[in-house]
Amino acid sequence: MAIIMDGNGRWGLKHKNSRNLGHKEGLKTVEMVMKYCMKKQIKFLTLYAFSTENWKRPLNERNYLFNLLENYLKERLEKINSEKIKIKILGEKIFSKSLNNLLNFAEKKTYKNSKLQINLALNYGSKKEIVQAFNKLKKKKKISENDIKKNLFTKNIPDPEILIRTGDTQRLSNFLLWQVAYTEIFFEKKLWPDFMNKDLNRIIKKFYNIKRNFGNI
Ligand code: FPP
Repeated sequence: MAIIMDGNGRWGLKHKNSRNLGHKEGLKTVEMVMKYCMKKQIKFLTLYAFSTENWKRPLNERNYLFNLLENYLKERLEKINSEKIKIKILGEKIFSKSLNNLLNFAEKKTYKNSKLQINLALNYGSKKEIVQAFNKLKKKKKISENDIKKNLFTKNIPDPEILIRTGDTQRLSNFLLWQVAYTEIFFEKKLWPDFMNKDLNRIIKKFYNIKRNFGNI
Protein backbone atom coordinates (compact mmCIF):
# COMPACT_ATOMS: atom_id res chain seq x y z
CA MET A 1 0.00 0.00 0.00
CA ALA A 2 1.25 3.46 -0.88
CA ILE A 3 -0.08 6.77 0.43
CA ILE A 4 0.11 10.42 -0.60
CA MET A 5 -0.60 12.01 2.77
CA ASP A 6 -2.11 15.27 1.59
CA GLY A 7 -3.99 17.91 3.56
CA ASN A 8 -1.89 18.49 6.68
CA GLY A 9 -1.39 22.17 5.91
CA ARG A 10 -5.08 22.85 5.35
CA TRP A 11 -6.04 20.87 8.46
CA GLY A 12 -3.53 22.80 10.56
CA LEU A 13 -4.71 26.20 9.31
CA LYS A 14 -8.33 25.31 9.90
CA HIS A 15 -8.00 23.84 13.37
CA LYS A 16 -4.85 25.38 14.89
CA ASN A 17 -4.07 28.37 12.69
CA SER A 18 -0.72 26.75 11.84
CA ARG A 19 0.29 24.57 8.90
CA ASN A 20 3.05 23.04 10.99
CA LEU A 21 0.64 21.80 13.64
CA GLY A 22 -1.20 20.05 10.82
CA HIS A 23 1.97 18.07 10.10
CA LYS A 24 2.24 17.19 13.80
CA GLU A 25 -1.35 15.90 13.72
CA GLY A 26 -0.59 14.04 10.48
CA LEU A 27 2.06 12.04 12.27
CA LYS A 28 -0.67 10.53 14.46
CA THR A 29 -2.40 9.24 11.32
CA VAL A 30 0.93 7.74 10.19
CA GLU A 31 1.09 5.80 13.46
CA MET A 32 -2.51 4.67 13.08
CA VAL A 33 -1.82 3.37 9.56
CA MET A 34 1.34 1.58 10.70
CA LYS A 35 -0.65 -0.24 13.38
CA TYR A 36 -3.35 -1.05 10.85
CA CYS A 37 -0.83 -2.59 8.46
CA MET A 38 0.67 -4.71 11.24
CA LYS A 39 -2.77 -5.95 12.24
CA LYS A 40 -3.89 -6.72 8.68
CA GLN A 41 -0.54 -8.21 7.69
CA ILE A 42 0.08 -5.67 4.96
CA LYS A 43 3.77 -6.16 4.27
CA PHE A 44 4.78 -2.93 2.52
CA LEU A 45 3.71 0.62 3.31
CA THR A 46 5.15 3.43 1.18
CA LEU A 47 4.60 6.94 2.50
CA TYR A 48 5.19 10.15 0.55
CA ALA A 49 6.67 12.29 3.30
CA PHE A 50 8.67 14.90 1.34
CA SER A 51 8.92 15.37 -2.42
CA THR A 52 11.68 16.90 -4.52
CA GLU A 53 9.19 19.73 -5.13
CA ASN A 54 8.58 20.29 -1.41
CA TRP A 55 11.95 22.11 -1.19
CA LYS A 56 10.03 25.11 -2.58
CA ARG A 57 8.23 25.41 0.78
CA PRO A 58 9.37 28.05 3.31
CA LEU A 59 12.42 27.10 5.38
CA ASN A 60 10.36 27.19 8.57
CA GLU A 61 7.98 24.49 7.30
CA ARG A 62 10.79 22.34 5.88
CA ASN A 63 12.70 22.50 9.14
CA TYR A 64 9.56 21.69 11.11
CA LEU A 65 8.96 18.58 9.01
CA PHE A 66 12.58 17.39 9.28
CA ASN A 67 12.60 17.98 13.05
CA LEU A 68 9.32 16.13 13.41
CA LEU A 69 10.79 13.14 11.61
CA GLU A 70 14.09 13.29 13.50
CA ASN A 71 12.40 13.50 16.91
CA TYR A 72 9.98 10.75 15.98
CA LEU A 73 12.77 8.38 14.98
CA LYS A 74 14.85 9.23 18.05
CA GLU A 75 11.88 8.46 20.28
CA ARG A 76 10.46 5.47 18.47
CA LEU A 77 13.23 3.63 16.65
CA GLU A 78 13.73 1.11 19.46
CA LYS A 79 10.02 0.31 19.50
CA ILE A 80 9.84 0.16 15.70
CA ASN A 81 12.73 -2.28 15.70
CA SER A 82 11.25 -4.42 18.47
CA GLU A 83 8.03 -4.67 16.43
CA LYS A 84 10.11 -6.08 13.55
CA ILE A 85 9.43 -3.13 11.26
CA LYS A 86 11.97 -2.42 8.54
CA ILE A 87 12.62 1.19 7.52
CA LYS A 88 13.76 2.02 4.01
CA ILE A 89 14.29 5.52 2.64
CA LEU A 90 13.35 6.22 -0.98
CA GLY A 91 15.25 9.28 -2.18
CA GLU A 92 18.67 10.84 -1.84
CA LYS A 93 19.52 11.78 1.74
CA ILE A 94 20.56 15.41 1.49
CA PHE A 95 19.28 16.68 4.84
CA SER A 96 21.22 17.84 7.91
CA LYS A 97 24.12 15.65 8.93
CA SER A 98 22.24 14.50 12.02
CA LEU A 99 19.10 13.53 10.08
CA ASN A 100 21.11 11.82 7.33
CA ASN A 101 22.99 9.82 9.98
CA LEU A 102 19.82 8.92 11.81
CA LEU A 103 18.12 7.75 8.60
CA ASN A 104 21.14 5.61 7.69
CA PHE A 105 21.20 4.24 11.23
CA ALA A 106 17.47 3.42 11.13
CA GLU A 107 17.87 1.56 7.83
CA LYS A 108 20.85 -0.41 9.09
CA LYS A 109 19.30 -1.24 12.44
CA THR A 110 16.04 -2.51 10.97
CA TYR A 111 17.49 -4.13 7.85
CA LYS A 112 16.70 -7.70 8.83
CA ASN A 113 13.14 -7.05 10.02
CA SER A 114 10.35 -8.50 7.95
CA LYS A 115 6.99 -8.01 9.66
CA LEU A 116 6.28 -4.71 7.90
CA GLN A 117 8.49 -2.65 5.59
CA ILE A 118 7.93 1.09 5.72
CA ASN A 119 9.32 2.93 2.74
CA LEU A 120 9.63 6.60 3.51
CA ALA A 121 9.76 8.66 0.34
CA LEU A 122 11.92 11.62 1.37
CA ASN A 123 13.34 14.06 -1.14
CA TYR A 124 11.64 11.71 -3.55
CA GLY A 125 10.64 12.50 -7.12
CA SER A 126 9.57 9.82 -9.54
CA LYS A 127 10.97 11.53 -12.65
CA LYS A 128 14.32 12.02 -10.93
CA GLU A 129 14.28 8.36 -9.90
CA ILE A 130 13.67 7.23 -13.49
CA VAL A 131 16.33 9.56 -14.92
CA GLN A 132 18.81 8.26 -12.36
CA ALA A 133 18.02 4.70 -13.39
CA PHE A 134 18.65 5.53 -17.06
CA ASN A 135 21.94 7.22 -16.18
CA LYS A 136 23.08 4.10 -14.36
CA LEU A 137 22.16 2.04 -17.42
CA LYS A 138 23.53 4.28 -20.15
CA LYS A 139 26.41 1.94 -21.03
CA LYS A 140 23.92 -0.79 -21.90
CA LYS A 141 23.03 -1.26 -25.55
CA LYS A 142 19.50 -2.39 -24.89
CA ILE A 143 17.57 -1.56 -21.72
CA SER A 144 14.80 -3.87 -20.50
CA GLU A 145 11.87 -3.18 -18.16
CA ASN A 146 13.60 -5.31 -15.60
CA ASP A 147 16.80 -3.23 -15.88
CA ILE A 148 14.84 -0.09 -15.06
CA LYS A 149 12.93 -1.76 -12.26
CA LYS A 150 16.16 -2.95 -10.64
CA ASN A 151 17.66 0.54 -10.73
CA LEU A 152 14.80 2.43 -9.09
CA PHE A 153 14.83 3.28 -5.37
CA THR A 154 12.06 0.68 -5.08
CA LYS A 155 14.14 -2.29 -6.26
CA ASN A 156 13.08 -5.37 -4.30
CA ILE A 157 9.81 -3.71 -3.31
CA PRO A 158 6.67 -5.00 -5.05
CA ASP A 159 4.59 -2.44 -6.93
CA PRO A 160 1.76 -1.16 -4.72
CA GLU A 161 -1.61 -2.82 -5.10
CA ILE A 162 -3.34 0.18 -3.54
CA LEU A 163 -2.48 3.88 -3.74
CA ILE A 164 -4.41 6.25 -1.51
CA ARG A 165 -4.31 10.03 -1.83
CA THR A 166 -6.11 12.05 0.82
CA GLY A 167 -6.83 15.78 0.68
CA ASP A 168 -9.43 15.91 -2.11
CA THR A 169 -6.94 16.27 -4.97
CA GLN A 170 -6.78 13.90 -7.93
CA ARG A 171 -3.21 13.80 -9.13
CA LEU A 172 -0.04 11.75 -8.58
CA SER A 173 2.37 14.63 -7.88
CA ASN A 174 5.46 12.83 -9.18
CA PHE A 175 4.96 9.80 -6.90
CA LEU A 176 5.83 6.24 -8.06
CA LEU A 177 4.93 6.97 -11.70
CA TRP A 178 6.58 3.77 -12.96
CA GLN A 179 5.37 1.61 -10.09
CA VAL A 180 1.64 2.44 -10.21
CA ALA A 181 1.06 1.17 -13.76
CA TYR A 182 -1.51 -1.37 -12.47
CA THR A 183 -2.26 0.00 -9.02
CA GLU A 184 -5.82 0.62 -7.83
CA ILE A 185 -5.99 4.31 -6.94
CA PHE A 186 -8.27 5.75 -4.27
CA PHE A 187 -8.73 9.50 -4.00
CA GLU A 188 -10.12 10.49 -0.62
CA LYS A 189 -11.85 13.76 0.25
CA LYS A 190 -10.65 13.75 3.85
CA LEU A 191 -7.54 15.65 4.89
CA TRP A 192 -4.74 13.37 6.11
CA PRO A 193 -5.12 14.12 9.85
CA ASP A 194 -8.84 13.24 9.59
CA PHE A 195 -8.20 9.93 7.81
CA MET A 196 -9.25 6.99 9.97
CA ASN A 197 -9.18 3.26 10.46
CA LYS A 198 -12.69 2.94 9.09
CA ASP A 199 -11.64 4.73 5.88
CA LEU A 200 -8.91 2.14 5.40
CA ASN A 201 -11.40 -0.65 6.04
CA ARG A 202 -13.74 0.76 3.39
CA ILE A 203 -10.91 1.08 0.85
CA ILE A 204 -9.61 -2.45 1.45
CA LYS A 205 -13.13 -3.86 1.16
CA LYS A 206 -13.60 -2.05 -2.15
CA PHE A 207 -10.19 -3.23 -3.34
CA TYR A 208 -11.10 -6.88 -2.77
CA ASN A 209 -14.24 -6.41 -4.86
CA ILE A 210 -12.33 -5.11 -7.87
CA LYS A 211 -11.67 -7.62 -10.61
CA ARG A 212 -8.07 -6.98 -11.57
CA ASN A 213 -7.40 -8.18 -15.10
CA PHE A 214 -4.00 -6.61 -15.80
CA GLY A 215 -4.96 -6.12 -19.42
CA ASN A 216 -6.54 -9.55 -19.77
CA ILE A 217 -10.33 -10.12 -19.80
C1 FPP B 1 1.25 17.03 2.47
O1 FPP B 1 0.28 17.89 3.03
C2 FPP B 1 2.10 16.47 3.51
C3 FPP B 1 3.45 16.58 3.57
C4 FPP B 1 4.24 17.29 2.54
C5 FPP B 1 4.21 16.02 4.69
C6 FPP B 1 3.76 14.70 5.22
C7 FPP B 1 4.25 14.56 6.60
C8 FPP B 1 3.61 13.96 7.63
C9 FPP B 1 2.36 13.22 7.47
C10 FPP B 1 4.16 14.00 9.00
C11 FPP B 1 5.52 13.49 9.17
C12 FPP B 1 5.71 12.14 8.65
C13 FPP B 1 6.61 11.28 9.11
C14 FPP B 1 6.76 9.99 8.41
C15 FPP B 1 7.44 11.54 10.31
P1 FPP B 1 0.31 19.42 2.63
O2 FPP B 1 1.18 20.14 3.59
O3 FPP B 1 0.68 19.58 1.20
O4 FPP B 1 -1.19 19.82 2.85
P2 FPP B 1 -2.01 20.95 2.09
O5 FPP B 1 -2.31 20.40 0.71
O6 FPP B 1 -3.24 21.11 2.92
O7 FPP B 1 -1.16 22.18 2.05
